[in-house]
Amino acid sequence: MDYLLGIDLGTSATKSVLFDKNGVVLASSTATYTFDQPKNGWAEQDPDVWWRAVCQTTNDVVSESGIDAAHLKGIGISGQMHGVVMLDENGDVIRKSILWNDGRTAEECAEITDIIGAERLIQITANPALVGFSAGKILWVRRHEPENFARCRHILLPKDYIRYKLTGVFATEVSDASGMNLLDIRARTWSDEILSKLGIEKEWLGDVYESVDITGEVTAAAAAGTGLHPGTPVVGGAGDNAAAAIGVGVYQSGRAMTTIGTSGVVYAHSDTLAIEPQGRIHTFCSAVPGAWAVMSCTLSAGLSLQWFRNTCCEQEIAEAKESGTDPYDLMNRLAASSPVGANRLLFLPYLMGERSPLLDEHARGVFMGLSAMHTKGDLIRAVMEGVSYSQRQCFDILSGMGLDVNDMTICGGGARSPLWLQMLSDLYGCTVKTTSLAKEGPALGVAILAGVGTGVYESIEEAWECLSKTTAETTPDEADRNAYEPYYALYKSLYPVLQESFLHLACIQ
Ligand code: XUL
Repeated sequence: MDYLLGIDLGTSATKSVLFDKNGVVLASSTATYTFDQPKNGWAEQDPDVWWRAVCQTTNDVVSESGIDAAHLKGIGISGQMHGVVMLDENGDVIRKSILWNDGRTAEECAEITDIIGAERLIQITANPALVGFSAGKILWVRRHEPENFARCRHILLPKDYIRYKLTGVFATEVSDASGMNLLDIRARTWSDEILSKLGIEKEWLGDVYESVDITGEVTAAAAAGTGLHPGTPVVGGAGDNAAAAIGVGVYQSGRAMTTIGTSGVVYAHSDTLAIEPQGRIHTFCSAVPGAWAVMSCTLSAGLSLQWFRNTCCEQEIAEAKESGTDPYDLMNRLAASSPVGANRLLFLPYLMGERSPLLDEHARGVFMGLSAMHTKGDLIRAVMEGVSYSQRQCFDILSGMGLDVNDMTICGGGARSPLWLQMLSDLYGCTVKTTSLAKEGPALGVAILAGVGTGVYESIEEAWECLSKTTAETTPDEADRNAYEPYYALYKSLYPVLQESFLHLACIQ
């Protein structure tokens, strides 16, 4: 039997999943962690925590499945995008990684736009300089921590740090590299023009591969730490969204997905290069060789509900522990007892600032319309609705780009909630699908890529046909769909009114 391993380095957990050729899960292990917020709007993680989580979960899946690790045909790695890991000449981590949801680099992004030119930057990288992307983070370290920058010899994305630890190879692949503001998206290689103008050494970034290419093999030292077999091939893999797309069958034009994970993503495959001129949603290389993807990213989707759980749902956490259920199930039940519009309560989910479609690192979360009659169920529902409105806003922009989306799958933790699925279906006004495989998320996507790269499958298409899966559909409820519209209109009108106030709030010392 051919076995494949997918490792997904998320923001709240690392998950390793061992699959057979039909996508059947033989073993799965998750190690959770949190991220540091040294200042309001900043987000960092220690790459050593990631590596320990990878070692723990790979050892778990090998021993739990009982397979001989030598029978593992290939490994794929996926991960949170945009984070910057800087290593010194010995390959040691210099400082904590600055993450995708960190908002500190507005000044550096303005500098990048100034140096390259706004139009030229979009021409080459398909995206404007964005606070969440990697280039600004590199320049921030150069400006604010010159002693760290002076020691820097390698710059890696989060999952590529794991590749380095597994194989000793410094490399990345096109889907994740697209989110650095440094890649020539048409040529799928580093842009010499941008690197030289920004003063970033090309050698620091490693080689760029396609997602299905083999980039290296597990070293003896890594094998000892992970329980894997030395010599096992590791393919390029993909950024978490590009990987999740492969895992839910979004590898052809017309197919799209919405992910409600820590971030919220609306993602459509595209065989041609399509760019949103205002940069409100991104264009990246897809994990499908020679194709692209258009996607939005809101920073606090699942994170908003997780924040509410952690700060306001002590009782539900305790009850769930006692009854052996998930606190989110209890929270869902409370939310379902509140009507559409949460009894006239709106939530703006900008807890970490907002990327798509606002591009505003100063925005912050808001409950609007709070009344003494509101219950916890109303608050939870308002949070879920606010996240859904933000996805609808991105969906509208994506649809306006002429991408003909006729097939929408929902994935991420949010897809486990029937209430959330119904909200998204009502707000998009279309049927939304879930697949039985979606819960494996990016880990399945990169296991497929590993299978294609090592010859287990002939193509991504063939792999998708091989997988045993079932799908379910949620269709819009016409009455609720209409009932949401005035709330959605009001939601959209709130940010423009508050924009200046958010800036004032950020400036208070
Ligand atoms: C995408 C993005 C997030 C992260 C974390 O641009 O920033 O989706 O990849 O999931």
